[in-house]
Amino acid sequence: MREDIINFIEKEVETRAKSKNNFFGIGAFYHIKAVVNNAIILAKEYNADLEVVTIAAWLHDIASITKYEYYEEHHIYGAQIAKQILEKFNYDNEKIELVQKCILNHRGSKLAKKHTLEELCVADADAISHFDNVPSLFYLAYVTRGLDENKGKEFVKSKLQRSYNKLSEQSKELYKQKYDSTMTVIG
Ligand SMILES: [Fe+2]
Ligand SMILES: [Fe+2]
Repeated sequence: MREDIINFIEKEVETRAKSKNNFFGIGAFYHIKAVVNNAIILAKEYNADLEVVTIAAWLHDIASITKYEYYEEHHIYGAQIAKQILEKFNYDNEKIELVQKCILNHRGSKLAKKHTLEELCVADADAISHFDNVPSLFYLAYVTRGLDENKGKEFVKSKLQRSYNKLSEQSKELYKQKYDSTMTVIG
């Protein structure tokens, strides 16, 4: 594992997340940390390249927290930023390409085909990360959107449902219990 790279990007992501340029606030950092945690679990489960998956998970939303204008195409800008950072560390070219693929294809909404296990790990970790941040979804529903009790609850449930449905079949199996128990608690 290239600890030098991982330590650097962890600090870099934290700095950018805490900067006033980050439109999405500190929640984006908690999201990224949740994605890293889940991506590591999945990489081990599926025997994917743990180093590539860890680096890509840390960097997958780096464009969004760097500049709001990048948000719409943050998968594309993110892949470019990743290349710049990783080249400075003389990281292996093939691995840089793999990291870039993971970032380019992490968005379920973009319907891109995932060709490698590493891409699958990052995209699934991104989708499942909502389940580690359920309180922030309620904040979004009740505070940011000002929804009433029932509408807020439905909003959160449908967001979680959509996230779960984005998962690959094998990850659905893996996270089924977490999904079921979260839904039961929400009621
Ligand atoms: Fe993203
Ligand atoms: Fe994300």
